[in-house]
Amino acid sequence: MGSRTLSRFIAWAWCTLPAALVACGAAPATRSASSGANASTPEASSGTDLGSAPPVTFHKDVEPLLQRSCQGCHVTGGIAPFALVDYADAKLRAPLIVQRTGAGIMPPWGAVATPDCTPSRPWKSDIRLTSTEIETLKAWHDQGDVEGDAKDAPPPLAPAPHGLQGSNLELQPPAGFSITSPTKDQFRCFVLDPMLSAAAYVNGSFIVPGNASIVHHALVFLDPTGASKTKVTDPLTQSYDCFGGPGLANTGLLAAWAPGGIPVDYPPDSGAKIDAGTLLVMQVHYHPHSASAQLTPDQTKFQMRVVSSAPAHSAATVLIGNFGTAVKNGTGLVAGPGDPPSGPAFVIPPDVTGYTRTMQFTVPQGTKTLHVAGIGGHEHYVGTAVSITIARSSPAPGQAANECLLAIPRWDFDWQRFYAYDAPLDQTPTATAGDVVQIKCTYDNTLDNPKVALSLLDQGLTQPQMVSLGETTLDEMCLGAFLVTE
Ligand code: HEC
Repeated sequence: MGSRTLSRFIAWAWCTLPAALVACGAAPATRSASSGANASTPEASSGTDLGSAPPVTFHKDVEPLLQRSCQGCHVTGGIAPFALVDYADAKLRAPLIVQRTGAGIMPPWGAVATPDCTPSRPWKSDIRLTSTEIETLKAWHDQGDVEGDAKDAPPPLAPAPHGLQGSNLELQPPAGFSITSPTKDQFRCFVLDPMLSAAAYVNGSFIVPGNASIVHHALVFLDPTGASKTKVTDPLTQSYDCFGGPGLANTGLLAAWAPGGIPVDYPPDSGAKIDAGTLLVMQVHYHPHSASAQLTPDQTKFQMRVVSSAPAHSAATVLIGNFGTAVKNGTGLVAGPGDPPSGPAFVIPPDVTGYTRTMQFTVPQGTKTLHVAGIGGHEHYVGTAVSITIARSSPAPGQAANECLLAIPRWDFDWQRFYAYDAPLDQTPTATAGDVVQIKCTYDNTLDNPKVALSLLDQGLTQPQMVSLGETTLDEMCLGAFLVTE
């Protein structure tokens, strides 16, 4: 498969990014779900007629919803603080369940269509509740949390496998890493050796944070020359400090994780190639957190599903955005409010809300048609919304000239994930030479933004600060992450 074109595209995308971007990044993104009973939620489940007869019961009406939309996390040993499996679990939490689902906070899901941006394809594993389902949960509680007949219960759900399904190559640093600064962000690169004697193709991956309360994000880079080995300063953890990026001349991005991230499955028969002898460099960005959280060493793992024979389609993860200078040759920061006379600049003043900046990227000439299999956005704490669109230079017959690829109208730093289109690969959105991708980011740099208030508090500050592009917790970003195949 013509992976040369793909790698050229990626190299191009990367070199146009400021050095800062290469280091921080990416992020499969999610945030809390929409405003609850949202018109864009998936189709309603079958007949829960609230007006008439049969009472709403746990086994008949509630349990199937918990299975589908909650038990990915709310199981014993899951990432949620309590299980929502048995009747007793649900009854105990019933008022909270009604409140959180009614407010659109649970299940967490960020990709919600807006009047301005409605993606044209559904999402894979869309766990949102429909407004009817939210009503069902409320009716169940209003009617007294009736258990009902166990005969009505859906078949028990097989426990969800933890991490990446079918993972067959798992790497981690030989020892846990302890952060040393109680107040400063730290960037550490861990050298991982997959010990490949022949090329391998990654068809899925997941970065599993060790101490999740201090891992701000993690990126995995390819090191085909093995140069990272010589940078190691701590043999025990096989790591070195790496603010700004892994410090390698020849590299590419393989995977990214941010809070709320989930395993990334590539489309069938596609994969990202890792050459024999390649090392992987996992850059972990640690952020200061409460002293007790900092005591636990972090040992973040990287899981992959690899195959040894070349798949039909080559795949890659590309980050686009974080441009600090004005659009030139179709790519850069679009002019916006408050720009100095010298031209566009990315600066979010303190105490502004609804502040929007747009990053623009023109797919370079010579790029073959790429399919976008999945997509995410990335901002930090000041961010409140992200949307990504594409304007096609010469749309094929029947193809939209302007298409919304992703809208996250309520960005939440703690719920970032990647969204995969629920469509066969050849029916996913395409991007080709001359097409213009725009990433529009909105910010609220006031104390009314709880994430801003909290992160200021973490740093011992009381007033919103001037925010610029950068990698540390109090800086901002505006990025799109794309899983592309050709
Ligand atoms: C992707 C994982 C995930 C899914 C899916 C999920 N939850 Fe949660 N839930 C969490 C986590 C983590 C927390 C605790 C942190 C937070 O509140 O964000 C939480 C918190 C909650 C809380 C609030 C607890 C509190 O004390 O504030 C409720 C209630 C809840 N979930 C109900 C549900 C219900 C009902 C569903 C399904 C309709 C669901 N969740 C789906 C991960 C999840």
